Amino acid sequence: MKVKLTRREFVIGSAGFTTGIAIGSQGLNIIKNLITSADKETSRPIKVANKPPLLPWPYKKLDPEKVAKIAYENWYKEFCAYAVTSAILLPLCKEIGEPYTSFPLESVRWGHGGVVGWGTTCGTLLGAGFALSLIAGKEGENILNDLIYWYTKSELPIYEPENPKARIRNRNKSNSPLCHISVGKWMKKEDVRFYTLERKERCARLSADVASKTVKLLNEWKDGKYTPVHKSQAKTHQITAQNNCLECHRSLPIIPGTKM
Ligand code: HEC
Repeated sequence: MKVKLTRREFVIGSAGFTTGIAIGSQGLNIIKNLITSADKETSRPIKVANKPPLLPWPYKKLDPEKVAKIAYENWYKEFCAYAVTSAILLPLCKEIGEPYTSFPLESVRWGHGGVVGWGTTCGTLLGAGFALSLIAGKEGENILNDLIYWYTKSELPIYEPENPKARIRNRNKSNSPLCHISVGKWMKKEDVRFYTLERKERCARLSADVASKTVKLLNEWKDGKYTPVHKSQAKTHQITAQNNCLECHRSLPIIPGTKM
């Protein structure tokens, strides 16, 4: 059955189906009603799935350079998290189609500014996390762990756009996956304020770097050549943590509950 459904209604429709399992035919009626109420003007055609698609979703190797370009351009549409997720998933919409075409890309927008400006995890990494878990399921977490490590240790941004929207001079190594620390150190080095063309350009280029690195790792994974490099942060430190302890603590804190 092919019908037109808005993204919102697709999500509700999937939830309706879960309820449907519990309440039988009534659940199916809920879905039917949702389908008939779909806005035919603004929606795109999708195949109504009998059940929400299980992870992982199919993957075809992508060209990291093309992905970088999309991420750079899309940063200027909806910022970092959206830039990275869309850079990876849009080519898969073309290459594979469903279920990627049904994924509501705008739902990852909130990652910008380390979650709506709170400076926590860099939105590029959140964006990569979405794509990785769709494509690689739980294994995506190992890839994300290595990706975050790479992010903290790399001089970024590396990407040079063909038509830059602003000139920037500096790269920096964040030592941290936190937006606040990463962008703050760069702003200090570049000596620019947050709301400048330069800072925007830096985050757009950095989105390109993270998206292309993610795809390089995914391509290795697809070839069966990927083995996780880094261990679990929480197991290593016995507390969830970033690695740059001494940038925040004057001395290494004693882990509570451990006898010294
Ligand atoms: C981005 C800053 C930051 C980083 C990096 C960081 N911490 Fe913390 N940590 C804090 C803050 C803030 C607190 C709460 C205030 C405090 O206790 O100092 C805290 C609390 C703790 C606590 C609770 C007990 C205590 O002494 O406050 C432990 C244990 C701890 N951190 C260990 C670590 C370890 C180990 C690392 C590195 C692997 C680390 N932290 C990295 C900021 C940080």
